[in-house]
Amino acid sequence: MTPDDLAPLVPEMTAWRHHLHAHPETAFAEVETARFIAERLRAFGLEPHLGLAKTGVVATLKLGTSNRAIGLRADIDALDIPEANAFAHASKIPGKMHACGHDGHTAMLLGAAKHLASEGGFDGTVHFIFQPAEENEGGGRAMVEDGLFDAFPMEAVYGMHNWPYLPFGAAAVAPGPMMASFDVFEIALAGRGTHAAMPHKGDDVLLAAGELIVALQSIPSRLVDPLDPVVVSVTQIHGGDTWNVLPGSAVLRGTVRAFSAAVQDAVESAMTRIARATAEIHGATAEVRYERRYPATLNDPREAAFCAEVLGGLLGADQVDAAPRPNMGAEDFAFLLAKKPGAYVWLGTGTPQGSAPLHNPAYDFNDAALPVGAAYWVNLVRAALPEKP
Ligand code: NI
Repeated sequence: MTPDDLAPLVPEMTAWRHHLHAHPETAFAEVETARFIAERLRAFGLEPHLGLAKTGVVATLKLGTSNRAIGLRADIDALDIPEANAFAHASKIPGKMHACGHDGHTAMLLGAAKHLASEGGFDGTVHFIFQPAEENEGGGRAMVEDGLFDAFPMEAVYGMHNWPYLPFGAAAVAPGPMMASFDVFEIALAGRGTHAAMPHKGDDVLLAAGELIVALQSIPSRLVDPLDPVVVSVTQIHGGDTWNVLPGSAVLRGTVRAFSAAVQDAVESAMTRIARATAEIHGATAEVRYERRYPATLNDPREAAFCAEVLGGLLGADQVDAAPRPNMGAEDFAFLLAKKPGAYVWLGTGTPQGSAPLHNPAYDFNDAALPVGAAYWVNLVRAALPEKP
């Protein structure tokens, strides 16, 4: 089917998307969002399961006799960003907005669920997975730990993200790394504080912090294989309160991005060594807390090729980049892909006049993509679970 075949659904999908955009909810607090999704699913004749990972919703559609099953996942959460847009469907919740287009993801999966529930055209089981807390809090991990794959057995799982960096009508899916791992670190420096005019009487943790910011860049440049992408970014530095005191403590925080657990291990160990040694030069100590948040999003090569084929059928093969450069951003769909084969694709939503980037206060999902994304899901289901001839 083509996106045009879903034209009758477009007014409804657009209304859902605008309702969700106007009522954004963030990590594990998507209560009204989950209620809205469940109501729609019931109206399609499906029986939603609520409460997985607190605010997750899953509905199952089984047709025919095949015992094969797949999952389609949309994230449903918004961000803590005050919206800068003034259009009618702008956020009504102060300080929160759908700045990553998860409102569109939800509307597209609802559209696909409605179409498949009424039109069928496949043999097997589809689980529609509405996942909370993609941003920062790892709702994908929570759903897996809460038994997503036990309660809803499936052989493969698929994800999609709207991608304003690709033109509308294009798409991309990589056979392997697609998004990076997301780790955070905190380095607490401690020493003897002293009078700023008598630095030799204490341990200058701020000088150590400055050297440490520079020294940490030897991790990507010297301590990790140059062919392994890695980012080490110090994003916060806290220390000192006044003009004439060298403080006794300082804290650096930041994030690390990579595409393999081996690189994450290498960074953690190098960071610990460099932090301790740099602190020691100044008579101070360093305590490193390194926390792994999301693993890398790694597509199964066979599933990525399958998704590229489905996208090609929808958009034209020349519109699908089957070997895009991966992105150092992170995505908690990684937790689902760590357990099941599957693939995560980028659906182009960029406009010729240019659209705001993701996580920007002026962002708005491109509604023209609603029937495209929904048709992608429908075609994927029918291709993955074909009816018997
Ligand atoms: Ni997102």
